[in-house]
Amino acid sequence: MMREGTAPLIRREDYLAPAYWIRRADLCFDLDATKTIVSSKLTIERNTTQDVQPLKLHGEDLNLLRVLVDGHSVSFRQEGALLIIDAPAADAFTLEIRNTVSPEKNTQLSGLYASGGGLYTQCEAEGFRRITFFQDRPDVMAVYTVTLRGDKKKYPVLLSNGNLVEQGELDAGRHYAKWHDPFPKPSYLFAIVAANLVAREQWVRTRSGKDHLLQIFVKRGDLDKTEHAMNSLIASIVWDEARFKLPLDLERFMIVAVDDFNMGAMENKGLNLFNTKFVLASTATATDVDFDGIESVVAHEYFHNWTGNRITCRDWFQLSLKEGLTVFRDQEFSMDMAGSASARAVRRIGDVRTLRERQFPEDGGPMAHPVRPDVYQAIDNFYTATVYEKGAELVRMMHTLVGREGFAAGMGLYFERHDGQAVTCDEFAQAMADANPHSALAQHLDVFKRWYAQAGTPRLVAHGESDAESGRYTLRLSQSNTPSAGQPYKQPNLLPIAIGLLDRNGQPLQLQLEGEDAPAGTERVLVMTEAEQSFTFIGLPTADVVPSLLRGFSAPVLLKDGLSDADLLVLMAHDTDAFNRWEAAQRLGVNALRAALTHDDTPVLDAAFVEALRTLLRDPSLDPAFKELALTLPSEIYVADLVENIDPQRLHAAREAMLDQLASALQADWAWAFEHYQVRGGYLPNAEQSGQRALTNLALAMLVRHAVASGDNVWPGRAYQRFKDASNMTDRLGAIEALVNAHAELATPALERMHALFKDEALVLDKWFALQGRAAERGGKVFARIKQLMQHPDFTLGNPNRARALLFSLTAMNPAAFHRTDAAGYVFWADRVIELDAINPQLASRFARGLDRWRNLAEPYRSAAREAIARVAAKPELSGDTREIIDRALQ
Ligand code: ARG
Ligand code: ZN
Repeated sequence: MMREGTAPLIRREDYLAPAYWIRRADLCFDLDATKTIVSSKLTIERNTTQDVQPLKLHGEDLNLLRVLVDGHSVSFRQEGALLIIDAPAADAFTLEIRNTVSPEKNTQLSGLYASGGGLYTQCEAEGFRRITFFQDRPDVMAVYTVTLRGDKKKYPVLLSNGNLVEQGELDAGRHYAKWHDPFPKPSYLFAIVAANLVAREQWVRTRSGKDHLLQIFVKRGDLDKTEHAMNSLIASIVWDEARFKLPLDLERFMIVAVDDFNMGAMENKGLNLFNTKFVLASTATATDVDFDGIESVVAHEYFHNWTGNRITCRDWFQLSLKEGLTVFRDQEFSMDMAGSASARAVRRIGDVRTLRERQFPEDGGPMAHPVRPDVYQAIDNFYTATVYEKGAELVRMMHTLVGREGFAAGMGLYFERHDGQAVTCDEFAQAMADANPHSALAQHLDVFKRWYAQAGTPRLVAHGESDAESGRYTLRLSQSNTPSAGQPYKQPNLLPIAIGLLDRNGQPLQLQLEGEDAPAGTERVLVMTEAEQSFTFIGLPTADVVPSLLRGFSAPVLLKDGLSDADLLVLMAHDTDAFNRWEAAQRLGVNALRAALTHDDTPVLDAAFVEALRTLLRDPSLDPAFKELALTLPSEIYVADLVENIDPQRLHAAREAMLDQLASALQADWAWAFEHYQVRGGYLPNAEQSGQRALTNLALAMLVRHAVASGDNVWPGRAYQRFKDASNMTDRLGAIEALVNAHAELATPALERMHALFKDEALVLDKWFALQGRAAERGGKVFARIKQLMQHPDFTLGNPNRARALLFSLTAMNPAAFHRTDAAGYVFWADRVIELDAINPQLASRFARGLDRWRNLAEPYRSAAREAIARVAAKPELSGDTREIIDRALQ
């Protein structure tokens, strides 16, 4: 049975503390894939600050066997997904419940489910109620003791949160293990694993001199792919202690990798569960991007142990309290790991790309919601780019406003006040402000907090005026935000605006604001709190000023500064802020694409921009990772979000034409870069080498593109050779993608060969599907191939990674293959939403978001998309998760 129909709206303002506290949970599992028996003994106390109320426990897809209060039967009723005991006799009592669940029937992968012969759990956000009856909400925190019993051969490893206190043999080939977690925790952090796994183990000693056991559990045969995850875990432990004085507080910290997993990973206390994608890596099977992903996801989940687990969320509206903060922390960790200033900037550019390609469109579409939402139907739909990535930007702005030390002090105060509690976003902001009473954050805390409350991406318009006589430069700023659902009017935000001023030759100018005695360097942060504000700089030696605004993307806004292409060329060549240097190149690319969309002539990049790109590519002082980013034209996804009434086919054609031009105009430079930046020596997944590989792969793609267009076989042949001989997956994938995206003849044998080589490596097969799903469309061939791949024996909708590899690649990464004038892409989408929804609603509702931005499409796409959405909406049996997305899309 699935949740059906329209789920009721849950509102933040309706929050009430629970009527009962559950202090202890003693759980016993008789494990079996077909039927697991769950025996639960809960120690319950009435919340005496409230009137006596019925005890209501959540339960979903459970088969109830018995209910006892203090050892006696009690009258209860089941109402929908609630188990209600109207009158528990005392203020404190024990409640015993016995129920069964069927893990193998659980294709939703929420609750207790089977994967590859083992049993695993996923409880966030509301999966625990699919295991047993409980007040399944994050402000109910209990101490858990868990006994697992199961077949010793099938389930040699039996794990739960905390510490192993007992284990032993039982009759009939069974054994048991008993775990105790001393930290009170919400039910969403509960986990068990019963499977046939092996572990990489490592002891570490933290600063206090305590020893801790780290374990990474994987399937037999995968052990040699766990070294990078272990190194990442150790680095995370060291980093959190060094930067935030937050030590590992557990005797044992476990990571378990599972093939079937709805998301990236989960921070269950002491027992993190991970998608194998974010654990397993070897040089031969994982790319630099994978190595990076592992490092940041391992860090993210580890950091949750403090930001999320020690202090958790009072209710799910506060999700960003832990997610925004933890994303910020993992971003900072990855920057610190990357090392050099340039490598940090490269990471920042990557993070901003994600924000603008995923969160900005979300904030402009039907799923727009504040970082702290006010209302939801299915909380699983709110694990969004807004809660995560925009949430992290809010924390980053606080960091900018109070500085590195001030931020550390704010974190300290936050833990001093709230360790062990379930709190709201307000408590975090308050601690940050209180620890920094003289900061702009503290002075304007109420203004800052609008970031949590208001949806939509603010627009910032900047207009600069120079006065040659007086040496003054006045920057007039105004901000606004468009209305979104339930929020017709928006108030101004607090914007930290990092800026520098350059002269026409690109030299940085000293900055002195009117009213100040002396210049204070060449960069500063302006704090804007009103709808309109002006800042006047004085003592400037020139009237020809080029402003470099929003350095490092210091606030998540859409900036309109009216800079000409000539100004952007100055920034692109000279800005000391690497982010804005990259941004200038992107904006020149966006301008060219916009022009191509409004005029009918053949789209071209102008000569000055092409020359600037050549200069940048050849510049010996720049890192290859930066060059690769700067020489990549803005993506179709990003541009589509900046333009109204978008025609995805025209955009694709224009961008392809520009790529052809860049491939041809810079041919010799690409060939030079390809040779010059080859990595010599053994593979290391570090920032330096991965930058080289990224740039050489881009160069190769350009060289193959140009060759295929001009009928030359040399570069395709070299790419094929490289694909065959590559000693690492990054180069191998780069080479095959060059062939596939250029539609080279050699793409076909390369694909066949890749499949044959890696048919037993699930994560590589995912790449094989994904690279075909996102391949550059030409004449509908890619879409046709995707449809065909649905029938491939290795394809299945049952495994989320596989489904994402093919289907999400199409809808989220391949606009030109998806948005077709014949609407076939939308028909395909609707069929898959419906099909997936019957198996896995969480995955289906994610996939359903592929048409979020249909209103932004030009005709005939818009009408066709609407029709497809309406067709899905007409299905009465949709899950609550998917229903919410589809209804919102049509609202
Ligand atoms: N808390 C997990 C993380 O960010 C993700 C859980 C996602 N849950 C969900 N229902 N989508 O690390
Ligand atoms: Zn998280």
